[in-house]
Amino acid sequence: MVKSKETLERLYTEANPKSKTQFADSQGVMPSGVAKSTSAWNPFPIYIDRAQDCYMWDIDGHRYLDFNNSSTALILGHSPKTVVEEMSKLVNNGIVFGPPSVYEKLASEEIVKRVPSVKSVRWANSGTEAVMNTLRLARAFTGKFKIAKFEGAFHGTSDDAQVSHAPSMDKAGPREAPNPVSDQRGAGRRVAEDIVVLPYNDRESVELILQEHKDDLAGLIYEPKAGGYDIPFDFVQFVEKTCNDLGILFIMDEVKHFRVSYGGYQELAGVSPDLSVFGKLVGGGLPVGAFGGRQDIMDLLDGTKGKSGISSSGTYSGHALTLAAGWATMKAATPEVYEYMKKLNDRLTSGVGDVFTRAQIPCSIVSHNNIMTAHLTDTPVRDYRSASSKTTGDLNNRLSLALMMEGYLARGLSELTISEPMTETIIDDFITTLERVIYEED
Ligand SMILES: Cc1ncc(COP(=O)(O)O)c(C=O)c1O
Repeated sequence: MVKSKETLERLYTEANPKSKTQFADSQGVMPSGVAKSTSAWNPFPIYIDRAQDCYMWDIDGHRYLDFNNSSTALILGHSPKTVVEEMSKLVNNGIVFGPPSVYEKLASEEIVKRVPSVKSVRWANSGTEAVMNTLRLARAFTGKFKIAKFEGAFHGTSDDAQVSHAPSMDKAGPREAPNPVSDQRGAGRRVAEDIVVLPYNDRESVELILQEHKDDLAGLIYEPKAGGYDIPFDFVQFVEKTCNDLGILFIMDEVKHFRVSYGGYQELAGVSPDLSVFGKLVGGGLPVGAFGGRQDIMDLLDGTKGKSGISSSGTYSGHALTLAAGWATMKAATPEVYEYMKKLNDRLTSGVGDVFTRAQIPCSIVSHNNIMTAHLTDTPVRDYRSASSKTTGDLNNRLSLALMMEGYLARGLSELTISEPMTETIIDDFITTLERVIYEED
């Protein structure tokens, strides 16, 4: 069942001589030959030459259907016409200015319009940076210093955020009271002391831990794990209510999840956070971060209201080109577009589920509107520990490679995302191909 790792790696290597050479030639100038750790694919990454709509082409001339959408960021596909037109107005007219551009108001208005809990918005250059600013704002507003987060939640790469994103089991402590574990050597020595770690999907433990730390907790930052972990909406509603009852700011990380509905994950789950963090799609394909929320909290950043001792800036924060692309993307991503993507995702989810059922491969699918993961395990994936105890990594990796050889970028069958240019035929072809490669042998 599914070709062997050795055969697939040999076929992949034979099919991608230019990417192989590019990777080899890059070794001297970058650690592991790549610009970011996540690009260090095994045996080597493919290098992309160009992309349009839901397809990408690599330097060896292969075409891929793109289920990755730049790590979930793109929802209109590559180079959507309206976004390119808006950006073109700037490309030959300065690119970036320093003083503000009119796009700041337009892009901010678009977020405020979609997300009722957000009354005003500040811009940054990445989700990481926006999370950093938001946590600082929560600390400044409350005068408290601890932040609660969930084990396995990803909130970017700052020291705070990388506590217990992927802790090793020998350090992680008991499931119901996880230890805060810094994932990165080199993080500040005391960072983990200010982070309180919670288990997903365990109300009793969450309540106990928050009760214990409530006097020190400035805020709780929540990563919804849509299309990743199976977490019911009433769990996040419970988390919000507990925070409200205990005087802890409730912060929603929408960096990835703003894609799941017009008003973000908070709209789907029926919650109204004190602060929210954005990134990815609000930059329309360019580096971006943003955060916003309650007016009284955001007012701390309003220099005209007196000295608050907190500010947020960056050379490229609020970059005109980014905000032009982000504004054009948000304008084009209407509720109808989300409805259309949901239909495709439902088709993908049920088709993939049927394929694994017929093949008698254990599979637990988590799917939310336009993002889905097929966990190849019969244990429901409800938290970090059930996700990391999956035993089928090898099958997942072989399927990813086999699908790449067929022209699909669907790595790990993890966080497959829909983009607007996809069609029912494209989804059906993928499902047929998946079934075929499962039965192919060496
Ligand atoms: C939920 C979440 N928060 C924050 C981030 C960090 O965003 P960035 O990669 O733009 O720094 C990410 C990135 O994947 C994310 O998925």
